[in-house]
Amino acid sequence: MSTGSDLIMSPEQRIPEHVAIVMDGNGRWAERQGKPRTAGHRAGVESVRRVMEVCGEEGVRVLTLFAFSSENWKRPKSEVNLLLDLFLVALNQEIRRIDKRNVRLRVVGDVSAFPHKLQQRIVEAERLTANNDGLLLQIAANYGGRWDITQAARGLARQVQAGKMDADDIDEDSIGRAMCCSDVPDPDLFIRTGGEQRLSNFLLWQSAYAELYFTDVLWPDFHEAEMRAAIDDFAARERRFGLTGAQLESSSC
Ligand code: FPP
Repeated sequence: MSTGSDLIMSPEQRIPEHVAIVMDGNGRWAERQGKPRTAGHRAGVESVRRVMEVCGEEGVRVLTLFAFSSENWKRPKSEVNLLLDLFLVALNQEIRRIDKRNVRLRVVGDVSAFPHKLQQRIVEAERLTANNDGLLLQIAANYGGRWDITQAARGLARQVQAGKMDADDIDEDSIGRAMCCSDVPDPDLFIRTGGEQRLSNFLLWQSAYAELYFTDVLWPDFHEAEMRAAIDDFAARERRFGLTGAQLESSSC
């Protein structure tokens, strides 16, 4: 976890280390073409593949994609089933390609609610790619930022209850360590496609200092050029982490 104060972006660090994406707009993309919403989700898998490749080429270290939120269970049962099936099919079809590209796959979220077969496939896919040292592709599935903060708080409370920790020792670092993905840097760039400008409960704690990038482009239309445009936009940002512009300048001298 990074707190921001140690992360002043030098001119060489114009590539975000960690990119997080809310892949929104699949349903509208399909509806605009007179297709069922599920066709949009299928097309969305292609965008996942393209974005993964651009991130690998550009030297992004971690890519985290919001594939299924804790709130997505409220969608019609047929759409939920399709999303879960698609996840399974995509894992089956893409895992060789992911492995060949030296990408390490990790699924973050409460996967215990998923069908057994999907859980099993996730474990196998993570195991297969565990030693790859290229891009880390994190798929957030049955994930919610508030769920993440809650499970971290519960974990710390248990440690206090067991006498392994003093309540007064709970601070930002210990909370951060108890959150999902605490072994990777916080997102530098948070992208949301599909025109809405909100976080939708994604990586709430971890995105405290992320640069936000919103685009009207619907996820299935988010191609290589759109991903590169987001990285270019990030490169032009001044990240202050609470400091003044003058402090930033003197620290980079
Ligand atoms: C939001 O679009 C998208 C989702 C809820 C699912 C995202 C899933 C994929 C891109 C495919 C599967 C991905 C993996 C990693 C296997 P929406 O349905 O809310 O679109 P709308 O806002 O236009 O209705």
